[in-house]
Amino acid sequence: MRLTNKHAVVTGAGQGIGQALAKAVAREGAAVTCVDKRPDTAEETAAAIRAAGGKAIATTADTTRLADVEAALKKAVAAFGNVNVLIANAGGSAGKRCAFLDLTTELWNDMLERNLTGAFHTGLAFGRHMAANGGGSIVFTSSIIAEFAGANMVHYGASKGGVKMLMRGMALELAQHKVRVNAIAPGAIVTPANVNLITVPDIKAKMEANTPLGTLGEPDQLAGAVIYLASDEASYTTGTTITVDGGLTLT
Ligand SMILES: NC(=O)c1ccc[n+]([C@@H]2O[C@H](COP(=O)([O-])OP(=O)(O)OC[C@H]3O[C@@H](n4cnc5c(N)ncnc54)[C@H](O)[C@@H]3O)[C@@H](O)[C@H]2O)c1
Repeated sequence: MRLTNKHAVVTGAGQGIGQALAKAVAREGAAVTCVDKRPDTAEETAAAIRAAGGKAIATTADTTRLADVEAALKKAVAAFGNVNVLIANAGGSAGKRCAFLDLTTELWNDMLERNLTGAFHTGLAFGRHMAANGGGSIVFTSSIIAEFAGANMVHYGASKGGVKMLMRGMALELAQHKVRVNAIAPGAIVTPANVNLITVPDIKAKMEANTPLGTLGEPDQLAGAVIYLASDEASYTTGTTITVDGGLTLT
C-alpha cells in the first residue's frame, strides 16, 4: 500500500497500459481519477476499481485540448482533493505508421498533437496545480522509440522524443516546487492498440527472438516502475526514465 492517502490521476485510463496502471495504483491505496477521451471505457475502469474495493471516478477529456484537461483536473479535485500523482499516459501511434519520405504535414501534426501536445497540456495543468499545492509526482508514458529509431515511425519517435525532453525540462523547473517528474519507456506491450499487429505469429516470434527476456510485455509489467516513481520511495528521483522493455533495446 505504497500510495495510501494519495490521489492519482491517470490519463488514457480506458484501456491498455493506462487501464492497468489505474488499477495498479488503486491496489496500492490511491484514490484514482480515470481520464479518457472515451467516457464509456473510463467509467469501466473506474467501476472495476470500485468493485475491487478501491476509490475511483471517471471523467472524459481529450488531452489535445487544454480546456478539457483543466476541466478534468477540477472534477478530480472536487472528488478526492488535491492531486498528488499524475500518470500522463494518453497517446500512441494510432497505427499511423508511414515511411519518412511519404510523411505529410497533416500526419506529422496529428502525431505531435496526440503525444507531445497532449502531454504538454496535461503536464501544464497538473504541474501548475501541484506547484501551488505542495508538490507531487508526475510520470509520463514515453517509449523506447524516444531513443531508438523505428522504421516508418519517425513522426512517432519525434513525438515521444519530445515527451522525454518535456519531462526533463519540467523536472528541472518544478523541483523547486517539490514536483518530481519522470517517465517510463515501455517496449513492445500487448494492448488493444497493437494486439492485432504484434501477436501475428510470425511478427510475435520475431519480436520475442529479439527480446532478451523472450516475451512481449503485458501492461501489468509496467506497474512496478510507475508505482515506484509515483511513491515517496522515489523522493530523490526526478528527470529520469525507467525503461521497461524486456531488454529489447539491449540488442
Ligand atoms: N503498447 C505499447 O507497446 C507501447 C509502447 C511504448 C509506449 N506506449 C505508450 O503507452 C501509452 C498507452 O498506449 P496503449 O498501448 O495502452 O494504447 P491504447 O490505444 O490501447 O490505449 C490508449 C488509451 O488512451 C486513450 N487516449 C488516446 N488519446 C487520448 C487523448 N488525446 N485524450 C484522452 N485519452 C486518450 C484512448 O481512448 C485509450 O483508452 C501511449 O502513450 C503509447 O504511446 C505504448
